[in-house]
Amino acid sequence: MHFVIEPSALESGSVAVPGDKSISHRALMLGAVANGTTEIRGFLAGEDCLATLAAIRAMGVTVDEVSETELRVHGVGLDGLSAPAEALDLGNAGTAMRLMAGLLSGQSFKSTLTGDASLCRRPMDRIIKPLAMMGARIGSSDGKPPLDIDGHAPLSGIVYRLPVASAQVKSAILMAGLYAEGDVAIVEPAVTRDHTERMLRAMGAELNQGETQIMMRGGQALTGTAIDVPADLSSAAFVLVAALLSSDATITVPNVGVNPTRTGVIDILKDMGANISVENVRLAGDEPVADITASASRLTGIDVDPARVSLAIDEFPLLFVAAAAAEGKTTFRGLAELRVKESDRIASMVEGLRALSIPVDESEDGAVVHGSKIYGGTLQSHGDHRVAMAFAVAGTVAEWAVRVQDVASVNTSFPGFADCLSTVGADISVEGDIGNL
Ligand code: S3P
Repeated sequence: MHFVIEPSALESGSVAVPGDKSISHRALMLGAVANGTTEIRGFLAGEDCLATLAAIRAMGVTVDEVSETELRVHGVGLDGLSAPAEALDLGNAGTAMRLMAGLLSGQSFKSTLTGDASLCRRPMDRIIKPLAMMGARIGSSDGKPPLDIDGHAPLSGIVYRLPVASAQVKSAILMAGLYAEGDVAIVEPAVTRDHTERMLRAMGAELNQGETQIMMRGGQALTGTAIDVPADLSSAAFVLVAALLSSDATITVPNVGVNPTRTGVIDILKDMGANISVENVRLAGDEPVADITASASRLTGIDVDPARVSLAIDEFPLLFVAAAAAEGKTTFRGLAELRVKESDRIASMVEGLRALSIPVDESEDGAVVHGSKIYGGTLQSHGDHRVAMAFAVAGTVAEWAVRVQDVASVNTSFPGFADCLSTVGADISVEGDIGNL
């Protein structure tokens, strides 16, 4: 499957985007081991979260689907999961695998976690190490999936200084901490998304949180709750940047999660001269949400502050496209983590931008993108949803057609992406796979 995007005249308006992926995964996993019912509204029915849904069902959790986006999880309590009959296939979902590994380390059964080719290339030693320090027994293929987890409880407490800024690693430790005797203390090298901490608190757990430190007493039981999942800022960003690059559109995305651990993309774009406003900030449960409006803007290249990287970690493919359309050069540093995402995102973006005739200098942990006219051409997404969507946005302002190959992965995080972009006037079509052109 591929996208063909023709130069487009974007229209002003308002468009909703689906629910937050990180929060949807956590609502399912924590809801599964809470006591009582967790009502999830605004659930992201994308492939990644559906893999988590299938996994908890395979361990005996009943989930009613009131609608595609409204679920009722009947929690079984910390010790109520049952052994899955077969390996749990988490598809493309790194978050599902890393968080689930933490949760399964403390069960009284064995389980295996596997996934697609991309997930099976991603490093899992970053969670295996701290979980093993807590007493977990996890086998892997040289630090990569599949993971064979020989669960047992209690696990022990841990004091752990994360070597890389990763909310997934932090959350895996917190999940395992639910099965630990003693305290769990985590120190992060930089602030990362704190959805797990917020949801644990909403479900009755006590946590002490500093800016980059978390302390949690092990073994705390959870109580099911109602969770309103906001729209995913990481998805909204594609529409917002399309508006920024347009000639005269103003587009609003309502009800978007604006947790400050996620809003780095807005700050970086504002530094580039973007006209973005965040309005009606309010709380949806434990998460702040807002309506975000972006208007056509003249972007200028900047030196992106590496301190902002962990607050915008998933938006760099899109920011590379914004940089390509900006005037002057944009320097990205401190992005080594991008090399171990769904694809090597630095390599994927450099290759794709060059295919569109944008000059780019690649470095080990970043790139310098020289803003210039975006011509058009054919490029590979490398099966990476965010690369595919970033280049679809580039296509709206290119001189001629952009063809993005291998885009089925967009359904992992943003089902309906192409429709959403066409609602605001993008000329995007989805075509069946006719091989490499
Ligand atoms: C996520 C954390 C980030 C992010 C991923 C979702 C999460 O990964 O890239 O898409 O839900 O915790 P890392 O924490 O490994 O950087």
